[in-house]
Amino acid sequence: MNEQRTTFGSRLGIILATVGSAVGLGNIWRFPYMLGTNGGAAFLLVYIICILLLGFPVMITEFFIGRHTHKNAAGAFQLMAPGTKWSVVGYNGILAAFFISGFYYVIAGWTLEYIFTSATTSLEGKTVMDFSDEFTLFSSGIVRPIICAFLFICTTHYIVSSGVKNGIERASKILMPLLFLILVVLCVRSLTLSGASEGLRFLFQPDFGKINSSAVLSAMGQAFFSLSIGMGCMITYGSYFGQKTNMQSTALQVTLLDTLIALLAGIMIFPAVFHFGIEPTAGPELVFITLPNIFGQLSFSNVWAVIFFILLAVAALTSTISLHEVATAYIHEEYHVSRKKATLCVSLGVSVFCILSSLSFGVLKETTIFGLTFFELLDYVTAKIMLPGGGMLICIYVGNRVDKKILKTELTNQGSIPFYFFRAYCFFIKYIAPIAIGAIFLNELNFFTWIQSLL
Ligand code: PHE
Repeated sequence: MNEQRTTFGSRLGIILATVGSAVGLGNIWRFPYMLGTNGGAAFLLVYIICILLLGFPVMITEFFIGRHTHKNAAGAFQLMAPGTKWSVVGYNGILAAFFISGFYYVIAGWTLEYIFTSATTSLEGKTVMDFSDEFTLFSSGIVRPIICAFLFICTTHYIVSSGVKNGIERASKILMPLLFLILVVLCVRSLTLSGASEGLRFLFQPDFGKINSSAVLSAMGQAFFSLSIGMGCMITYGSYFGQKTNMQSTALQVTLLDTLIALLAGIMIFPAVFHFGIEPTAGPELVFITLPNIFGQLSFSNVWAVIFFILLAVAALTSTISLHEVATAYIHEEYHVSRKKATLCVSLGVSVFCILSSLSFGVLKETTIFGLTFFELLDYVTAKIMLPGGGMLICIYVGNRVDKKILKTELTNQGSIPFYFFRAYCFFIKYIAPIAIGAIFLNELNFFTWIQSLL
């Protein structure tokens, strides 16, 4: 392993860092709003199918590439398939890291604002309208949201430039379980609100009439986004794994925990959404309007709110670290610049994107490309095209070009651990995943309707 690269200290450290990358705003902010705008329970069902059939195998495959090559996302493909076009998969990942960061920090910045306002103003006695107006006023502003995003970029920059230290590993060991605990408490509060059953029905009783091609694409995109796969993040983290790391069980644990946290977020949000009469289709602001209402129902509301938003910020931080690391490792290793300089390049590049996407909630709201604001465009292009597309190519490459013996040796740690479903796994990455992802893409482009019209 490259000496200068960050390494994970312990087994728990590996799990935490990887779970840390997966669990973030994707679970608590993006999942509920995607579910809300795509019809509820039917979306959840498709999402879970995508996690199991696509997400889990793709994650194992990325771990394989990473640990096998000990390289960053682009370097890995250059090493495995030198002189071929396969390195495009790596570049796609690096670019996706920039694009995702370009909107992710904006939302992460919002959590900082909410920590601050929860600590300084009272939440009690406010109506849904009050929270909604406050949100709009803040997010459409110019200076404040940009400063918040910058603060987040600086924190991530500091941690990534000095390497993922034990401190972060140790801190996550306490903060991640704490996040889990507070989610459970908020779920209980939300479930005991009147009208909770309507929220649960929305979340768990599928209405298949609401499933259309774009909801399926959104569910697949959400699965890739939430698991941090399809863009080389898990390749990069896999490259820091030791030879003893059990990649199968790590992938399973990360997948399960990530899905559990998303489910908890859904159970926390939707009963409250229906209780307070908030529109489930509210979009990116859904969580930021709903949560303060739930806190307002608790005694010591401000304390709960501050703790929750701090934990959400930490969850976002462990994800931004991984996003930053994908691009930093690439620049550091492929262009032979110091880690500090590589980190600075990434932070500066990302800042430009963030300014534009933050402004797209205010002054640039009307400036659209293909009908999408800059923020929406970055979100759409990454989650719905680059990540699933990257995942499809990763599966095609490993499923067809990698010697099965090498694949098995790596995934079983030189035969020291079993891989019971190895043949099924190979079948999945060779056929099922690429075909399913391809079909979902074609479906979105109305390809099948077109074929039908020809018949
Ligand atoms: N998975 C992270 C989340 O759910 C976001 C992310 C995507 C992080 C891709 C890294 C890479 O918040």
